[in-house]
Amino acid sequence: MKKAFITGISGQDGYYLSKFLLEKGYEVHGTIRRSSSINTSRIDPLIAEYEKIEKLFLYYSDLLDASSVSSLINKIQPDEIYNLAAQSHVKVSFDNPIYTTQVGTLGSLSLLEAIRNSEKPSKFYQASSSEMFGGVDSNSLSDASIFIPKSPYAVSKVFAHHITTVYRESYNLFGVNGILFNHESPVRGETFVTRKITRAASKIALGLQEKVYLGNLDAKRDWGHAKDYVRMMWMILQTDEPEDWVIATGKTTTVRDFVKMAFAYAGIELEFKGEGIDEKGIVVSCLDPKYQVEKGNEVVAVDPRYFRPTEVDLLIGDPTKANTKLGWIPKYNLEELINEMMESDLKLMTKDQYLKDGGYTIMNYFE
Ligand code: NAP
Ligand code: GDD
Repeated sequence: MKKAFITGISGQDGYYLSKFLLEKGYEVHGTIRRSSSINTSRIDPLIAEYEKIEKLFLYYSDLLDASSVSSLINKIQPDEIYNLAAQSHVKVSFDNPIYTTQVGTLGSLSLLEAIRNSEKPSKFYQASSSEMFGGVDSNSLSDASIFIPKSPYAVSKVFAHHITTVYRESYNLFGVNGILFNHESPVRGETFVTRKITRAASKIALGLQEKVYLGNLDAKRDWGHAKDYVRMMWMILQTDEPEDWVIATGKTTTVRDFVKMAFAYAGIELEFKGEGIDEKGIVVSCLDPKYQVEKGNEVVAVDPRYFRPTEVDLLIGDPTKANTKLGWIPKYNLEELINEMMESDLKLMTKDQYLKDGGYTIMNYFE
C-alpha cells in the first residue's frame, strides 16, 4: 500500500486527487490550515468515509512552517508528495504579493529540502501553472515554451518550477513539474471566473440575483475538468524518468462564450452588446419554463474592479506529449464540464441556501 502526502488537500485539486488516490487503495496524508471557521467542506465526505478506517490522515500545517513540513515528511515517509498548496488566485496575488511569493517559493523549497534530507526517496510533484507563460504567445504552449510571468503568483510558480528542476538535476531526486492549464469543477473556488459564472447564472435563473459583474470578457482560457487533471498528476509520478509535462485540452474559449454556455444550460439565450466597460449581456429568450427571466433583462455587466494590473490574454496548451507518451486523454469536454457545474450550482442555489449564505450583497463583494 502506497502512502501519499498532499499539501493543500482542502482545495479543489486536493479533494479530487485524494479521492482518486483513496479509491486506488493509497494511504493519504494531507495538510490543512487552522482557520477561524472550518475549511474542510470539500473533503468532509472523504473524512467521513476514510478517516475512521485509518486511510486518511490530516495534520495542521502551513507550508511556511518549514519545521512542521519536514517533521511530517520524516514521520510519514511517503512514497509520493503532491505539492498543491498555494495562494492560487492571480488577482489576489497583486494584493498580497509577499505572502503569495513566500508560499510559492519558500514553501516549495522547504518540501524539496525535507525530501533531500529524508531517508526515503519520495517522488515529488510540483503544481506548476500555465500562468507562467504569461499569455503573450498565441501558439499552443508546450513544456519547451518560454515563461514570461505577469503576476506575483506566476513569478512564484516559475521559481518553484525551476527549483524543482535544480533539485532533480543536482540531487537525483524524482521531482516533476505538471504545467497545468486552468481546470475547473463543481467544487472550484467561488472567486475563479468559471464558478463565479455558474453560481451567478444559477441564481439569476432562479430569480435570486439580477446581474453578475465580471472583468475582462475577452480573456481566453484552455479549460479542462479537475478530475481529468488529477489523474494525470498521478500518472506522471508513475513514470520511470522524471520530466515535465503540459496538461491541457488544446482548445481555448473566451470568458464571454463561457458565460453564454452556462446560461444556455438553463435555457437562457444571451447576446452581448456594447464595447469595453459598457458591454452588457442581455437575455434574448428564456425557453425553460422552470426559470422566469425576462427577455431584454441585462444580466451581465463589466466592472473594472475585476481587471488585473496586467492581464494574461490568451492561454492554449499543447497536450500532445501527454496524449502520445502517457496515453492521457481528457474524458470531459468544455460543454460537459459546464453542464456538471451548472447542474450542481442549480441544486445548491435553493432559496434557503442562498439566505443561509448571507445574501448576495456580501457574497458578491469578494467574488
Ligand atoms: P485551491 O482550491 O485554491 O487550493 C489551494 C490549497 O492550498 C488549499 O487547500 C489551501 O488551503 C492551501 N493553502 C494555501 N496557502 C497555504 C499555506 N500557506 N500553507 C498550506 N496550505 C495552503 O487551488 P487548486 O485549484 O486546488 O490548485 C491546486 C494547486 O495547483 C495550486 O498550487 C495552484 O496554484 C495550482 N494550479 C491550479 C490550476 C487550476 O486551474 N486549478 C492550474 C495550474 C496550477 P485553504 O483551504 O485553507 O485555503
Ligand atoms: N476571477 C475572475 N473574476 N476572473 C475574471 C473575471 C472575474 O470577475 N472576469 C474576467 N475574468 C478573467 C480574468 O481576468 C482571467 O483572464 C480569466 O477570467 C480567468 O481568471 P480566473 O478564473 O481567476 O483564473 P486565472 O486564469 O487567473 O488563474 C487560474 O488558472 C491558473 C492556470 O492558468 C488559477 O487557478 C491559477 O491558480 C492557475 O495557476
